[in-house]
Amino acid sequence: MKISFNYPHITGKELEYIKDVFESRHLCGDGKYSQLCHGWLEEKIGCERALLTPSGTAALEMAALLLDIKEGDEVIMPSFTFVSTANAFVLRGAKIVFVDITRDTCNIDAGEIEKAITSMTRAVVPVHYAGIACDMPAIMKICDERDIAVVEDAAHAILSNHNGKALGSFGSLAAFSFHETKNLVAGEAGALIINDARMVERAEIIREKGTNRSQFFRGQIDKYTWQDLGSSFLPSELQAAFLWAQMEEAGFINARRQATWEMYHQALKPLEENGLLRRPTISPGGMQNGHIYYVLTNTAEERDELMHYLVREEIGAVFHYIPLHDAPGAAKHSRVCGNLDNTAYVSSRLLRLPLSVSLSQEQVQFVVDSIAAFYQSRIRKGQLQQAAL
Ligand SMILES: Cc1ncc(COP(=O)(O)O)c(C=O)c1O
Repeated sequence: MKISFNYPHITGKELEYIKDVFESRHLCGDGKYSQLCHGWLEEKIGCERALLTPSGTAALEMAALLLDIKEGDEVIMPSFTFVSTANAFVLRGAKIVFVDITRDTCNIDAGEIEKAITSMTRAVVPVHYAGIACDMPAIMKICDERDIAVVEDAAHAILSNHNGKALGSFGSLAAFSFHETKNLVAGEAGALIINDARMVERAEIIREKGTNRSQFFRGQIDKYTWQDLGSSFLPSELQAAFLWAQMEEAGFINARRQATWEMYHQALKPLEENGLLRRPTISPGGMQNGHIYYVLTNTAEERDELMHYLVREEIGAVFHYIPLHDAPGAAKHSRVCGNLDNTAYVSSRLLRLPLSVSLSQEQVQFVVDSIAAFYQSRIRKGQLQQAAL
């Protein structure tokens, strides 16, 4: 039974909507389908404005431009994240200050943020790892008191919430990703969420190559001109049409993924109770979206052995981020505040299990049985002391 790690879900409406775009001859951005996606995001997130972007990376780059990040500024974030979280701000000349995560949620440790703040701190970028909420009330309090901007990296977190408030609605800005590995996919695509109304007009300008073309298309001005910094940050209608088909089915997609997540969680409980591995922890009040199911092994060596064992069983199990502070790009552009022990711990022990809409209960059970068989064989060989499972 070959089980791939990721299998992008296609709803069946994508081609119909793309054909509609062909026939309408409105191929560039911000046509009917972009507007539908914007409206959907604005309703679901409850934000001032949502703007589709070509990627989550582009949304983060727009956030850095909107905040006028410049040389000498510091931006605090976890090291356990994707490179774009950092690069978007490095591109504007900022120094990244990496702080540790907590072992339970794999999210930035709010207490560590406070210690890292200096007079140069301009922004904090919490990453909602696996769609599980960061401690947003604590982060917002720390940042609001000091007038530091919060940009949520919500790449994993579409339709997750914290006490009913959508992730992506806390910071002044947030970025989502619709890369083919995410819950809602469009190949490559993303969205910038703007919660601070004062930033809406400038965001539109930055996204339209530094011009006020959005206002022109709305008939608010009779010609458009160069206004500010900007770039080409809007995707074509073809991407938007694909994404709209996904948004229409977002409830079904997330429900299926959450059910699979829950099945893993229940089935792996005995292994956790036997002290063989650890399962994810949901922050209190958090409602996650079934984006990633992972386990944490007891040692780094065990994670690699389990991963190879599963791969031999044709199960696509993969590790996740190599901490950014250890990567070659870090030396010139970042510093570390405090120790990053939890980051090193999680990065070396975390194993992501297959999760997609089409994954069957039988396949989930096969993955769980294979994990149990791995531990049984280690116990038999005397490599582990735990009681039989
Ligand atoms: C936490 C995080 N932020 C940002 C991104 C970038 O998103 P995209 O691939 O859409 O550019 C990713 C991509 O996986 C990510 O995991």
